[in-house]
Amino acid sequence: MAVLPIVKYGDPILRTRTEHIADIQTVLPFIDDMFETMYEEAGMGLAANQVGLDMNFAVIDISHTEEDEGPRIVINPEILESTGHYDMEEGCLSIPEIRATIARPEKVHVRYQDEEGTTREEWFDGLLGRVIQHEVDHLNGVFYIDHLTPAKHALIDKRLVEIAETGAPTTGITL
Ligand code: NI
Repeated sequence: MAVLPIVKYGDPILRTRTEHIADIQTVLPFIDDMFETMYEEAGMGLAANQVGLDMNFAVIDISHTEEDEGPRIVINPEILESTGHYDMEEGCLSIPEIRATIARPEKVHVRYQDEEGTTREEWFDGLLGRVIQHEVDHLNGVFYIDHLTPAKHALIDKRLVEIAETGAPTTGITL
């Protein structure tokens, strides 16, 4: 297994809508490395394009939090419907030192395939629902900071340039 380098804000692959996975077998060789990378970086989710793979899948593990959920692999996830709204602070391994409170739907109905190729439809809420929405965004080329108001986004513009140029901002910020 290997810890893979995390692709940072500014790399075009993070603005790419990732390739649909037709053959589950193509995902399997990357799964262990994806989990190892996520654990090394203390992330709760990691989308394939965050390690440079143009593939529509993500790994998620929030088992270290108070929500007792085991590790998951979500392949070709799509949000079918959603309800409610709530605020939660988010961060991203591809956007270091920045955190921001974002409003998103409270519950999402997601269709995805698991690592055995079985298609599943499940409702997610709480932290797991939040992480899944963040990862589905990544897989569609979207960052959580895209949901900020223009006024708040302006507060991190300089830092984003620094991340794109050097991999990290000079100072962190929580919005
Ligand atoms: Ni992220």
